[in-house]
Amino acid sequence: PAFAVAPVHRRLFGSFVEHMGRCVYTGIYEPDHPSADADGLRGDVLDLITELGPTMVRYPGGNFVSGYRWEDGVGPKEDRPVRRELAWHSTETNQFGLDEFMRWARGLDIEPMMAVNLGTRGIQEALDLHEYANHPGGTALSDLRAANGSPDPHAIRMWCLGNEMDGPWQLGHKTAREYGRLAAETARALRTAEPGLELVACGSSGRSMPTFGAWEAEVLGECYDEVDFVSLHAYYEEHDGDLRSFLAAPADMDRFIEEVVATADHVGARRKSSKRIMLSFDEWNVWYLSRFHREQAENPPSDWPVAPRVIEDRYSVADAVVVGGMLNSLLRHADRVTAASQAQLVNVIAPIMTEPGGRAWRQSIFHPFARTAAAARGRVLRVEPSAPRHDTALYGEVSLLDAAATHDPESGRAALFLVNRSTDTPMEVSADLRGLDGVAAASALTLSDDDVYAANTADDPDRVVLKENKDVRLDGGRLTAVLPPVSWTCVELAGPTPA
Ligand code: AHR
Repeated sequence: PAFAVAPVHRRLFGSFVEHMGRCVYTGIYEPDHPSADADGLRGDVLDLITELGPTMVRYPGGNFVSGYRWEDGVGPKEDRPVRRELAWHSTETNQFGLDEFMRWARGLDIEPMMAVNLGTRGIQEALDLHEYANHPGGTALSDLRAANGSPDPHAIRMWCLGNEMDGPWQLGHKTAREYGRLAAETARALRTAEPGLELVACGSSGRSMPTFGAWEAEVLGECYDEVDFVSLHAYYEEHDGDLRSFLAAPADMDRFIEEVVATADHVGARRKSSKRIMLSFDEWNVWYLSRFHREQAENPPSDWPVAPRVIEDRYSVADAVVVGGMLNSLLRHADRVTAASQAQLVNVIAPIMTEPGGRAWRQSIFHPFARTAAAARGRVLRVEPSAPRHDTALYGEVSLLDAAATHDPESGRAALFLVNRSTDTPMEVSADLRGLDGVAAASALTLSDDDVYAANTADDPDRVVLKENKDVRLDGGRLTAVLPPVSWTCVELAGPTPA
């Protein structure tokens, strides 16, 4: 326990709601659904979100935000304009907007993370949104909020200055210099309005972007003193049946995080600044992105549907194991990654799926997220497992064991999060826990299956679940466990029994 990385920041277990596909409409919001409440929120989805346990949710995009006019989504619903939505080629009805989102988030005790449009818009619109959302009252926009039913300010603390502005696909895409200047000036204006805000500058939309590294250096060169966070986005998928590489994706995520830390600290060093920029990993997940690109190329969108099915990936056991490993990567870097959002929450590359008017169910990736969010408490401990290693085509040599651990000094509770990356061999793990005074075995749950491509569906929603791992023992402070191939395991340890 002396080797603590950092506190387990609750914001690490964030999620993301974008106006994209069916995340909002027929996802969280569906007034005609039999389980809907008076606000039109699906009750079955609210229950699953509560079980999943996200602590913070980023909203309203994503690529969507770069063409969004926030004011379209407030006020009487019958007066809200219907708009063309260019990021995902659909029609936005604006029946759900800022005030509905805030009611939804507060009802679930979720912290909001608000993104402003720095694609087609700029400083004035960001200030207007802030005045509407956070100003106490007595001004045109704060009074409008009150008239729209929210007299109390929404008190949104964390704000993203745009989205993926490095990406040529982004509406209003900018060079690093252009964006860095705009981010700095928007941040300065927002802080003049409210000094305590926490602001996130856009980093790269992926480690493989040609501008990665240079982008962060140049953007932070412009706005280092004005922002608190730089963002990272990463999506992984299995390419051409290369399961070995896919399971090693969290090692790539480790490198990505460490490179962004190095780049940010380099900018800080050149400025002789004692300030440290934190990392907001505000989009991460498994996403079969190359399939999406292929489908788009073969079938370019021609119509403008409302809430179409977009990137509704069906997740397997292997995908869930990678998600578990990505959570480990976030935990391992908890000293610098202090906020993260899995993308997204419902239907769109999501842990929760719904049928319009029908059922809702948990995807395989729901399980490692929910368990880690519940079990990781206190401080992240530094673990240096020694394990066999193997080569991967995409990410080089990696350890077969991916591990993270947390310990709560107050309750004495601890948790180990273990991934066996071997595609064919069980792994026997042994851990010396004598330093964790008197911990007792509590539970060990494993996600694995003979068919690593098994997935949950509406008709078979519990095909992939966590199962008790009976091969975990604690004896004289030594924990032993057997991890099946391609598996994710959470071992929870109770604190010492009071005398
Ligand atoms: O999460 C899906 C999309 O991925 C987001 O809109 C965008 O920011 C990213 O490219």
